[in-house]
Amino acid sequence: MCGIVGFTGRQQAAPVLLAGLSKLEYRGYDSSGLAVRDGDSLAEVVKATGKLRNLAEKIDNGAALPGTCGIGHTRWATHGEPSQSNAHPHVSGNATGSASGPVESDVVGVHNGIIENYEELRAKLTGNGYTFYSSTDTEVVIKLVDYYYKKYKIGPIDAINRMMVRVRGSYALALMFKDYPGEIYAARKDSPMVIGVADGETFLASDVPAILKYTRDIYYIDNLQSVRILPGEAHFFDLNGDEVEMESTHITWDAAAAEKGGYEHFMIKEIHEQPDAVRDTLASVIKDNRVDLSVSGLTPDVLKDISEVHIAACGSAWHAGMVGKYVIEDLAELQVTAELASEFRYKKILLDKDALFIVISQSGETADTLAALRAAKERGIRTLAVVNVVGSTIAREADNVLYTLAGPEISVATTKAYSAQLVAMYTLALALADAKGKLEKNDYDYYIEELLALPEKISRALENKERIQWFASKHSNSRDMFYIGRGLDYAISLEGSLKMKEISYIHSEAYAAGELKHGTISLVEKGLLVIGLLTQEGLLEKTISNMEECRARGAYLMGVTSNGNYNVEDYVNFTIYVPKTDEHFAGSLAVIPLQLLGYYTSIARGLDVDKPRNLAKSVTVE
Ligand code: F6R
Repeated sequence: MCGIVGFTGRQQAAPVLLAGLSKLEYRGYDSSGLAVRDGDSLAEVVKATGKLRNLAEKIDNGAALPGTCGIGHTRWATHGEPSQSNAHPHVSGNATGSASGPVESDVVGVHNGIIENYEELRAKLTGNGYTFYSSTDTEVVIKLVDYYYKKYKIGPIDAINRMMVRVRGSYALALMFKDYPGEIYAARKDSPMVIGVADGETFLASDVPAILKYTRDIYYIDNLQSVRILPGEAHFFDLNGDEVEMESTHITWDAAAAEKGGYEHFMIKEIHEQPDAVRDTLASVIKDNRVDLSVSGLTPDVLKDISEVHIAACGSAWHAGMVGKYVIEDLAELQVTAELASEFRYKKILLDKDALFIVISQSGETADTLAALRAAKERGIRTLAVVNVVGSTIAREADNVLYTLAGPEISVATTKAYSAQLVAMYTLALALADAKGKLEKNDYDYYIEELLALPEKISRALENKERIQWFASKHSNSRDMFYIGRGLDYAISLEGSLKMKEISYIHSEAYAAGELKHGTISLVEKGLLVIGLLTQEGLLEKTISNMEECRARGAYLMGVTSNGNYNVEDYVNFTIYVPKTDEHFAGSLAVIPLQLLGYYTSIARGLDVDKPRNLAKSVTVE
């Protein structure tokens, strides 16, 4: 999604803004732009389509855009095609959207999010003499602030507050007012924005990596709050315009954690960080060989009264929820649903009063997941967020939070955060099973032992790298691929298939193996790659039979199984063995070769692995 940066201080703003935007590139974008002010002079706007380097080249890496106060933006198109006229910053006055240069306007701004009632507002503003030069909702919101600013002759904070009451939707906004040189005004609702103050300078960004170089003490702006930023100062205001005190959050992860550290891409670096992500997440909740979730507010007393579990999430986080469903159902013998948050949020909600409602999210900002969380909270159901980003909106709004300790994840395709989500779900399943008296001591101890051994086994699963790289280059011209499995293997197939399609652009589908005969097998033709997930001993022969049915119709078979399972290589063309673990946790190992397969296929096709087309890291709009 769009990225926002802002800076006011002593240094030249443009290089700081460009560097900040480069740290937000992972969010996905199609165009970019800056507005910089030199003292009292008018803001100068520059925009470019395509990569950030196009913008940097236009302004000689910042040297051609002098000034110590400015805002910047990377745009991921929602309203209006990717183009220079739709790129931000937008202005309140009369300037063609594509024009660069000094702008006469009273308000210049950048925006992340979606304004739902923008058509109605645009009509109102047009009736009041405003002309629009882009097809964006952003231009509407900036002109609306300008309208209130002039109509009521009020200050920026009051004008922004009036706008916040009038618009529907989600936004993070950074604005500069002609009458207030050296100052930036910001506001947010349901789209992330953070602020850092250091050495007499102030930084603003959509995400922490953009400002971590300057400070580790970060202010998370609250929903419906606005901020006035001056060099070395940030003042926060509520919707009434009253100033409020804010506490900063200290970031413990290192700036280096958000760099590539010698790897060619963030994705492969993050794939290799999985043993640590899993080890750290386990260590945060396993004390003296027992799962202790009391830090999340889930004491055994709370857990024992939970009657059913409902999980809502999007994409890979939903896949982790599917795994959680199978494991909780099996160990804790509870009814569990795992739903797509985008579906859940519009359904009639039928939840027991003692249900536990779980949302899973790496970013903690996904719009649909946040909406599902709010819907469950409105019903008075206990909510738990399994979240990676500390201080994110979802983490702040849920009753209980279980943090995954994967560290910053930059690659758009998730790997280490997904793996950390899996182990968070395993520990929750064990804690629930234990609190409900469903496990013998021996079994409990055995599961803990198996969990603690996972990081080392993930490292061993990574040793298949070269074979998978070879296999990926052989199949990189495939048109379609199928991933099949039963039970937990089906849940892992979903993730494997997504990892393939999102970064290689090869069409792939995951199927519950038993479903093939109900329609999909008609798609099997000579040379189609069918990947079978074969870690569940009781189901493995059945999946192999389904794979055989595909082979009989010309398919090429790859199997992923655990060491010591069956003689899978007697039945399939290419087999990857991963270390053996308890079957409940086998997905954590089986997913590793699937991540590698997606990665190396994308590389073999020469694609942009970390920033696949049309995708954003954090989907903050519906
Ligand atoms: C796929 C991927 C996405 C995310 C989804 C949810 O590799 O990363 O499918 O899992 O957009 O994002 P979060 O976890 O931030 O809510």
